[in-house]
Amino acid sequence: MPKECFCTKIFQIIKILVNNVGLAYESADMLHKVDLQINADIVIVNTVGVSVLTAAVLPQMVKRNAGIIINISSGTAYMKIPYLSIYSSTKAYINHFTNILRAEYSNTNIVIQTICPFYVKTNMSKVEESFFSLIPKNFVRSALKTVGIIDETTGCIQHQIQAAAFGLPQFIQDFLMKFQTKVFAKKAAAFQREKAAKMK
Ligand SMILES: NC(=O)c1ccc[n+]([C@@H]2O[C@H](COP(=O)([O-])OP(=O)(O)OC[C@H]3O[C@@H](n4cnc5c(N)ncnc54)[C@H](OP(=O)(O)O)[C@@H]3O)[C@@H](O)[C@H]2O)c1
Repeated sequence: MPKECFCTKIFQIIKILVNNVGLAYESADMLHKVDLQINADIVIVNTVGVSVLTAAVLPQMVKRNAGIIINISSGTAYMKIPYLSIYSSTKAYINHFTNILRAEYSNTNIVIQTICPFYVKTNMSKVEESFFSLIPKNFVRSALKTVGIIDETTGCIQHQIQAAAFGLPQFIQDFLMKFQTKVFAKKAAAFQREKAAKMK
């Protein structure tokens, strides 16, 4: 019998687990231009924690037949966006993983939800507040209203409007994707120039 440590005791009392941890690039870029360590860190931080912590809290949730697990993914999980290859793929992993768990535990009262936000004004996104880029407090307030009601959501009406773009005809989606890729390409070039200048 393994010894009980602080962690195992904590796992036994968690009633609500929000897997919010996430790491993104300093600047979106082509895969070969991103530092290898950063690529590795993004895979590890974005997938290992959510998988292992979820597995760790489930035994007592199953026993109690109650609990809430919320996995924070991203709108990028829905898109195959150039310049975000690893980040976007790790978020697709979270969606896939959470969908499977929801089916696996469907005969329990455990709520297992995926939230896939678009831009929220945080250190990670570095975007300014706007109609579509909410501040965290407003985003969280909106997202929490969906817990236990919607299995997978962007979390707020503003992002739901953005997600509606995926229902548009393919040629419009392709156009939007090309536009977004150009924006990332420009930003990536500026970031590389800045990095090169700092190294001089
Ligand atoms: N902001 C957006 O526009 C946006 C859009 C879609 C999805 N998301 C997702 O939302 C979640 C929250 O992100 P955020 O925007 O709030 O970004 P953030 O402010 O950078 O927060 C990221 C969180 O992850 C933690 N973290 C990062 N690297 C870690 C590591 N190596 N070990 C332990 N903890 C680590 C941070 O902990 P510390 O505070 O201790 O550093 C922080 O709590 C992420 O999963 C992100 O992918 C964000």
